Amino acid sequence: MAKKNFISLKNLSKHQLLDIVSIAQEVKAHPQDFSNFFLKKHIGLLFEKPSLRTKTSFYLGAQQLGASAIYYDPQEVRLGQREEICDVSRTLSQYLDVAVLRTFSHQDILEFAKFSSIPIVNGLTDLYHPSQVIADILTVTELKKDIEKIKFSYIGDTNNVCNSLINAFSILGGNLSIATPEQYCFDKETIKEIEEKFAKNGGSFTIGSSPEEAAEAADVLYTDVWSSMGREDEAKQREKVFKNFQINGKILEKAKKDSVVMHCLPAHRGQEVTDSVFEGDNSVVFLQAANRLHAAKAILIFIWEK
Ligand code: CP
Ligand code: NVA
Repeated sequence: MAKKNFISLKNLSKHQLLDIVSIAQEVKAHPQDFSNFFLKKHIGLLFEKPSLRTKTSFYLGAQQLGASAIYYDPQEVRLGQREEICDVSRTLSQYLDVAVLRTFSHQDILEFAKFSSIPIVNGLTDLYHPSQVIADILTVTELKKDIEKIKFSYIGDTNNVCNSLINAFSILGGNLSIATPEQYCFDKETIKEIEEKFAKNGGSFTIGSSPEEAAEAADVLYTDVWSSMGREDEAKQREKVFKNFQINGKILEKAKKDSVVMHCLPAHRGQEVTDSVFEGDNSVVFLQAANRLHAAKAILIFIWEK
């Protein structure tokens, strides 16, 4: 069987992306039908950063598909410190059938995949968080009629989650509006490339520094932490720069009445989202969290299918 990785959404076709989402819907509706899919297989979770949702989703997801799961905590393997990445990768390839990695550097997961003979799944890097975004697309598909027609607004840091949302919506041909502080905006050339990909697939992309404009008539308002894992030392500085990039009552009022508020979690209430919006009627953050499990199972099935 040819090895299939899930490291970024970037190189997926629209058909493949929708296929993963449709597997997730199927798995969510009929979990028993998939309970032997990974029978007697072994899945390893190698995480360099903390995790609640991703760890639980892939660990439990693997078990629900009939596999066993092993979790290596951030202090255990110490990729590139205790042992070279290429040696860890070739060793684990001897025991496991799939490895899910959460690394600081995206380069490290690519390096790991280069030496691996088993499929590698990205459980978050500094650049991308594709398994999160599969759950996000599943969530929006459940809540909104036509994902390609809605206005999806992201307010906050241009981080791993944001990058994977860009990848997904550009492939789907959706309408994505981003509001981020000027100093965290992409350079002109990158914006042009993103715009072209959106246009090619029939969608639209805007990026600016006005949360109000991004939120105007939005169907979905999405945010994430101002300082991602690994950037904690920038937190104080970022709090100043990002202070207006918050989903609060005023921003919510700009969006459509039936808009939904999304957050990948963990959330910092009072920073990127107010407590009242987080707990309010428009918030769907725990449906999103629940969908991580179905998305994780769908990703494992997708990489295993021919
Ligand atoms: N959203 C997400 O990936 O959460 P964890 O960091 O807890 O896995
Ligand atoms: N952008 C966040 C996502 C956490 C799930 C981080 O990388 O810390």
